[in-house]
Amino acid sequence: MKHTLIQELHLSLTNDVPSISPKFFYDDIGSHLFDVITLLKEYYPTRTEQWIMDTFQGAITDAIGPCEVLLDLGAGNCVKASRLFNSIKPKQYRALDISKEYLEAAVADLQKQFPHIAMSAQAIDLSLPLVFPDISELRKIFFFPGSSIGNYDPEKADQFFANIAHECHGNGGLLIGVDLVKDLETLHLAYNDPLGVTSSFNLNILLNVNRILGSNFNLRDWEHCAFFNESQSRIEMHLRARANVEVNLPGSNARDHVIRFKAGDLIHTENSYKYTQDGFTEKLRRAGFENIHAWTDPKKHFLVCFANAKK
Ligand code: AVI
Repeated sequence: MKHTLIQELHLSLTNDVPSISPKFFYDDIGSHLFDVITLLKEYYPTRTEQWIMDTFQGAITDAIGPCEVLLDLGAGNCVKASRLFNSIKPKQYRALDISKEYLEAAVADLQKQFPHIAMSAQAIDLSLPLVFPDISELRKIFFFPGSSIGNYDPEKADQFFANIAHECHGNGGLLIGVDLVKDLETLHLAYNDPLGVTSSFNLNILLNVNRILGSNFNLRDWEHCAFFNESQSRIEMHLRARANVEVNLPGSNARDHVIRFKAGDLIHTENSYKYTQDGFTEKLRRAGFENIHAWTDPKKHFLVCFANAKK
């Protein structure tokens, strides 16, 4: 996996539009910083999603029905999934995420609290196709909360949904949370918090890249930049060079490479798409889901859906 990650980073950083995939945010420090973001007053998605889950718990449980395996996609600290255990009562819980150490520690903790649920942790790159041959016969409920789907480009999201619908083999579904389009001020503040946690989260990606590539990005040369791109319906996050910068990228083929940035140049680190309720449910339907249930909050800031895979 390390070798392909190195190649991927080399390609994306030396592209005409330099970028770093958002999956590189989530090293140990990045995962903790993201947990702090979710506690911020300005970052409404997490608490709004939780409000919807708590308020409509009975209806959500009824819509889901029996659950043999709960697959937690991008499980992080596993807290969100664990809140479902008492209502949907999974027999098995599979936590899947990119950061192995962080995930294993979280699952080990959870296993002590729920010894009757068979649990496993698996390091996985969610941007690649998912297959679960060993549990193809079981009724699977995929859980993808937190509007992580917003970090996929729309076409990638369509492929991801089609992949999940297929992996359900006509028996199961997807419980998913997604952020909705809303006023610009609320959106802007959520990604430009005054405490600077989102800025640190964004900058930390360079430390992770340095660790993986052996490169020498200096955090003091870069600043956080986040704005809502209305025509694309997405928050864009970038890192902006504060001055002219040279960065060494030691090559996988031993030939070192230098990339040069001018003051003001950007490295694109994340898109966070915001959907309308109708647009999102239509997307699920097109990908192979039916009988879609949807719940939202009074301000219609966030949406939770349970979609059954077509039989
Ligand atoms: C994980 N993901 C849904 C977050 C989002 O809102 O797009 C990541 C994030 N980026 C900045 N703040 C939070």
